[in-house]
Amino acid sequence: MVRKTLCTLGLLMLTLQAFAQYQPSEANLKARAEFQDRKFGVFLHWGVYSMMGQGEWVMNNRNINYEEYAKLPGGFYPQYFDAEEWVKAFQEAGVKYITITSRHHDGFSMFHSKVSDGYNIVDATPFKRDVLKELAAACEKYGITLNFYYSHLDWHRLDYPIGSSGRALGRPTDQQNWQSYYKFMNDQLTELLTNYGSIGAIWFDGVWDHAGDATPFNWQLEEQYALIHRLQPSCLVGNNHHKDLNPGEDIQIFERDLPGQNTAGYSGGMTVSNTVPLESCQTMSDSWGFNITDTHYKSKEQLIQMLVRAAGMNANLLLNIGPQSDGRLPAMALSRLKDMGDWLKVYGETIYGTRGGQVAPHDWGVTTQKDNKLYVHIMKLADSALFLPLTGVKVKKAQVFKDGTPVHVVKSKEGLLLELGCVPEEIDYVVELTL
Ligand code: GLC
Repeated sequence: MVRKTLCTLGLLMLTLQAFAQYQPSEANLKARAEFQDRKFGVFLHWGVYSMMGQGEWVMNNRNINYEEYAKLPGGFYPQYFDAEEWVKAFQEAGVKYITITSRHHDGFSMFHSKVSDGYNIVDATPFKRDVLKELAAACEKYGITLNFYYSHLDWHRLDYPIGSSGRALGRPTDQQNWQSYYKFMNDQLTELLTNYGSIGAIWFDGVWDHAGDATPFNWQLEEQYALIHRLQPSCLVGNNHHKDLNPGEDIQIFERDLPGQNTAGYSGGMTVSNTVPLESCQTMSDSWGFNITDTHYKSKEQLIQMLVRAAGMNANLLLNIGPQSDGRLPAMALSRLKDMGDWLKVYGETIYGTRGGQVAPHDWGVTTQKDNKLYVHIMKLADSALFLPLTGVKVKKAQVFKDGTPVHVVKSKEGLLLELGCVPEEIDYVVELTL
């Protein structure tokens, strides 16, 4: 009898669970497609750590006592910050969305968070301006989508259950309290999704802080994601956890790699999702937060090809810049952005609104596709002809994208041979096929 009741109860719970499974709303599905259409975003790591010029991990890396670190905000005065100037520069560069750190691992809120015990940009700095609010207004004005990065881990709060990082910051360990910390995060997320207009995505980072725990740490992600979707159904949830997707996540993130690659060592345990939009986040130099000694910027060619390869792999590129503590964007970053913008002004049509094309990515390049157009992006070819393993299609027209020069196509039963008449030497030589 007891067994039978238990059995029925078990079944009931399974059924309830099945019902409770995350079903993205119509608004969310629409937002996913729009996210994919945007293709190019700028990632901004900006906080009081920018003052130290050693990246956003400086507090942990230099073992700065948490009470000493908390003195940084007292001197944070980004006098040149002008949200419109930033957003205009991004717009000129062809950027369609911004993802900015609302609160990084150092625990400092870059917005007027009423639940942060005063540890935020309005209450703790002489600047006293809510920069996220100003960015939200500028984004709204210029038609750029605003996303928020949000750290799951915290090196400042005493209720955060200390994980593998931030262990030598002098924090007492007797006040750790998950329930209190979880409530704090959800209250902050509520602030971010209530006071800053429509938000494109919440971009989480940091759950790996407890990846090494003996008993698996329960971050209660599903409830948190549900809160986000309740507050703004079209807001996408992404989590940089370096693992396969969890229920409730709307985008899949790859850190410093394109989907399916693992050169940086973060994506080893990941299978590329074919159900949700993909995003690859990359640094423009070697650092996320402003780093005064890092002048190792990727070249114009590398950055453009990164964007093109991402698009060909059906992914967005989220390209990072670490703004300076004076409120300016590094000159080198601005110059690279301009290069990308100039390129996108000519080639944007072959990127925005496209999806990964029907010819799989190759060493020579990738394809993107939109309606009946297939764009062949040739980035590394030593010959004056390119073979495409593409069968069962009828090519109505083939031309060089930038000037309309006809391209001769030879059809065989194995595919198509594009006769280019020259060895392509451009950053990206685009052939447009009308199918
Ligand atoms: C890593 C770093 C973090 C950075 C993030 C961006 O998770 O810990 O500092 O914000 O990558 O992808």
